[in-house]
Amino acid sequence: MPHPDISLPRLIAHRGLSAHAPENTLAAVRAAHDAGCSWVELDVQLLGDGTPVIWHDAGMRRCSDSSGRLADLDLPAARRLDVGAWFGDAFRGERIATLNEMLRLIAECGMGLNLELKVNRGRSAAALVEEAVPAALDALPPERLIVSSFDDDALAWARELAPASRLALGVLFEGVGRGWRERCAALEAFSVHADWRRLGRRSATAVKDDGYALLSYTPNDPAAFAHLWAWGVDAAISDDPSRFAGHLP
Ligand code: G3P
Ligand code: MG
Repeated sequence: MPHPDISLPRLIAHRGLSAHAPENTLAAVRAAHDAGCSWVELDVQLLGDGTPVIWHDAGMRRCSDSSGRLADLDLPAARRLDVGAWFGDAFRGERIATLNEMLRLIAECGMGLNLELKVNRGRSAAALVEEAVPAALDALPPERLIVSSFDDDALAWARELAPASRLALGVLFEGVGRGWRERCAALEAFSVHADWRRLGRRSATAVKDDGYALLSYTPNDPAAFAHLWAWGVDAAISDDPSRFAGHLP
């Protein structure tokens, strides 16, 4: 199966450099770039008015100065929120990033993007894919983009929009259990993204033997993670990639 010629780094910054900057913000991606990361993982979902924005939770409480649901905000209301001060005073005034703004920054920095389609409860996978995937395909070359999700409907919609040679799809797993092979084959996936705490040697080996790239989230302790490199993990998606310096195979 032909895939984009993606050269994955060993480490991908999770939600941007989220150990050192407010997650999923432009500041977090600039921090990742400044720290030498060449790829970031970011979550995308839709505001209530259909604007795609970079945000993880269904709600606003954890990472902004407000509360309520993302789905109840339009862009002007979302822009009024401070999404940096919760993390630290240095980030006060940070605004929620639209997908388009984020794509421009990533393109300018020459970075790669693992864009996670985050389909929170009650939200439409199709609407998210129709807004987010064409924009990402327009902004970045195929070798610097993976679109990933836990949600198979979202991945299937994305595959409808672009063939495997044009769009790398990453299938997210908590545990890589029964049915993983069928799931990946149906989606013509490029990669498997597995929770590092639940990934076993046998699954890792099977994924690699079948020719998939293997990514693992979200290790932050390089010593505890060390044995997974030997199992064939290609890339770790970490909040703090710099901790892995001197700990790579
Ligand atoms: O894409 C890997 C990882 O981000 C999945 O979990 O909840 O951090 O989006 P979460
Ligand atoms: Mg994510």
